[in-house]
Amino acid sequence: MRAAILRQVGDEKLEVRDDVQAGEPSPGDIRVAIRATGVCHSDLSAMNGTVPQPAPAVLGHEGAGEVTAVGEGVKHISVGDHVVITWVPPCGHCSYCLGGQPNLCTNITMRIGFVPHFTFEGSTPAYGFLGTGTFAEEMVIPQEAAVVVPKDVPFEVASLLGCGVTTGVGAAINAAKVKPGSSVLVIGCGGVGIAAIQGARICGAADIVAVDTVESKLEDAKRFGATHAVTPAGLAEAKSTVTGGDGFDYSLECIGLPQTIRSAYDEVRRGGTAVVVGAGRMEQTIEFNAFELFFTDKTLKGTLYGSADVRHDFPMLLRLWRAGRLDLEGMITRRLDLSDINDALDAMRRGEVIRQVISFG
Ligand SMILES: NC(=O)c1ccc[n+]([C@@H]2O[C@H](COP(=O)([O-])OP(=O)(O)OC[C@H]3O[C@@H](n4cnc5c(N)ncnc54)[C@H](O)[C@@H]3O)[C@@H](O)[C@H]2O)c1
Ligand SMILES: [Zn+2]
Ligand SMILES: [Zn+2]
Repeated sequence: MRAAILRQVGDEKLEVRDDVQAGEPSPGDIRVAIRATGVCHSDLSAMNGTVPQPAPAVLGHEGAGEVTAVGEGVKHISVGDHVVITWVPPCGHCSYCLGGQPNLCTNITMRIGFVPHFTFEGSTPAYGFLGTGTFAEEMVIPQEAAVVVPKDVPFEVASLLGCGVTTGVGAAINAAKVKPGSSVLVIGCGGVGIAAIQGARICGAADIVAVDTVESKLEDAKRFGATHAVTPAGLAEAKSTVTGGDGFDYSLECIGLPQTIRSAYDEVRRGGTAVVVGAGRMEQTIEFNAFELFFTDKTLKGTLYGSADVRHDFPMLLRLWRAGRLDLEGMITRRLDLSDINDALDAMRRGEVIRQVISFG
C-alpha cells in the first residue's frame, strides 16, 4: 500500500512509497483503512526534530477511516465502523484516565510509539508518528486509538477531530475555560489557532483578537469569529482598544516559539490565564523574573491535545458541528492526494493554509 515515510529526522521531504505494509492485527488491535488525513504542523515538527520521533516513520496523526479487520478480543468496534484516530489512546484504567485527564495517559502511547508497526522495502521496520501514522492507506492500531463516529459524518470532517480541532477548541473550552463576555487573544492562526478562535466564540467570548504574521490569515481569522485580527505590529493598539490597556482575560498561544509564548504571558491582564498550545523545542527556553510570577497573579499553563477526553469530546465537537456552531468544512483550505504531501508541507511552512486534507480511495 501507499504511505509517506520520513527516512530520517532532518529530512525536508517525505518519501511516498507503494511498498509499505501495515501487518495483521494482534489481539486487541484493529486495522483501519484511512480515508482522510489532515496535515498538522506537528508533522513538520517530527521532521525537524521539535517533537521527538524515531525514524524511519510513517507520519500523519490526524486521520479518520473505516475498520477493515478486528483482532481477537476487540470489543465495541466492528468491521465497517467509521473511526477517528486518537494519538493519545486512553487505556481506561490508570489514574489519569480515571481522574478526568485521559489526554495525559501514557500507557498505550509509550507502548506503540516506540515499536515499529509498519514495514517497507520488504522487511525494513518503520514506526508510526506518535504511535499512529495516518499518511498511509491502512494502519493497525490498538482499539483504544479509535473512536467510533456516525457514518454520515464525511471522513474529511471527521479527520480534523483527530488533532487540530480537538486541540484548539479544547484549549479554549477545557484548558482556559473561557468565560462568557471575556476577552481572548489567539496568537497564530493555522488549523489549531482557527479552532481556538472558534472555541473562544463557542464559549461566548465578547472580544477575540487574532494575531498572525501572514496577512491572508487575518481575513481567515475574522471569518471564524475573531472580532479583531492584526499582525504582531498591530497588537498593542488592538489590546488598548479591547481592554483599555489592562490586558486580555485569556491568551491562547498556537505557534510554539519562545517569543510568542512570552508574549502570551505578557498580554494577559493581572490574574489572567495564558495557555501554551504550540509545541516548541526542548532546547528553547523562556525567562520569567521571580517577582512577576507572583505579583501578576497570572496563570501560565500548557495543554496537551486540548486537555480533551476524546471519548467524550469527539462526539461533543460533532454535535457543535451539526448545530452549525463549529465550522469544520470551512477550515479545509486544500484537498490533496498523498503524492502532493511535500507540496502540502511547503505550503504549511509558508503559513498559507488552515488545514489541508489528503483523501484515499
Ligand atoms: N498542544 C498540543 O497538543 C498540540 C496539538 C496539535 C498541534 N500543536 C502545535 O500547535 C502549533 C500550531 O499548529 P498548526 O497546525 O495550527 O500550525 P500552522 O503552521 O498551520 O499555523 C501556525 C500559524 O502561526 C503563524 N505564525 C508563525 N510565526 C508567527 C509569529 N512569530 N507571530 C505570529 N504568527 C506566526 C503562521 O503564519 C501560521 O498561520 C504547532 O506548534 C503544533 O505543533 C500542539
Ligand atoms: Zn490511562
Ligand atoms: Zn497535530
